[in-house]
Amino acid sequence: MSDFFENLFNHVHNAVTHFPIALLFVSAGMDYFAGKRPGLRSGAWLLLVLGTLGTVAATVTGLLAHLAYEDDSILLSAIDRHQYLGFATTALFVGLTAWRWRSMHRGSDVGGTRVYLAVALFGLAVLGLTGFVGGNLLTEWGIGVKGITR
Ligand code: HEM
Repeated sequence: MSDFFENLFNHVHNAVTHFPIALLFVSAGMDYFAGKRPGLRSGAWLLLVLGTLGTVAATVTGLLAHLAYEDDSILLSAIDRHQYLGFATTALFVGLTAWRWRSMHRGSDVGGTRVYLAVALFGLAVLGLTGFVGGNLLTEWGIGVKGITR
């Protein structure tokens, strides 16, 4: 049973990360195409909030997943790049969500404006890079993969 929890603790990050990646890309797409359709606009807002919560969950679970490599400086330096990209992604989307939330409380949603979409696009580029570098931790470095003998 303890093996089960150790496994869950070490690998829950891999499951969690798919949520912010999917939700935030769809949120920006919905904002881009929403035009004057309020349903799409509020859907984009909901996905932004859920996706941003997902980045926070990814950061927490990522920090937990990396603990197993604390004593290996080479693997740790590979993880570091991904870690800082993850922090940047999270900060960008928390900032975007806070900005949009404030604008909505002042009566005019910034979602879908050019500046908003430009920041969201930049955030998605950093998020995409974070995911790519994260995937490389498994495929190039074998981090989080139990060795198999053939
Ligand atoms: C927005 C934040 C983050 C996103 C979107 C993200 C995304 C990813 C992705 C897509 C993978 C590959 C998973 C797979 O192929 O199954 C991964 C792996 C990994 N990430 Fe992150 N990550 C984030 C933050 C962090 C942070 C802050 C750390 C802390 C060091 C971290 C540590 C790891 C580790 C150690 C792995 C290797 C696989 C494992 O042992 O779970 N991640 N990440």
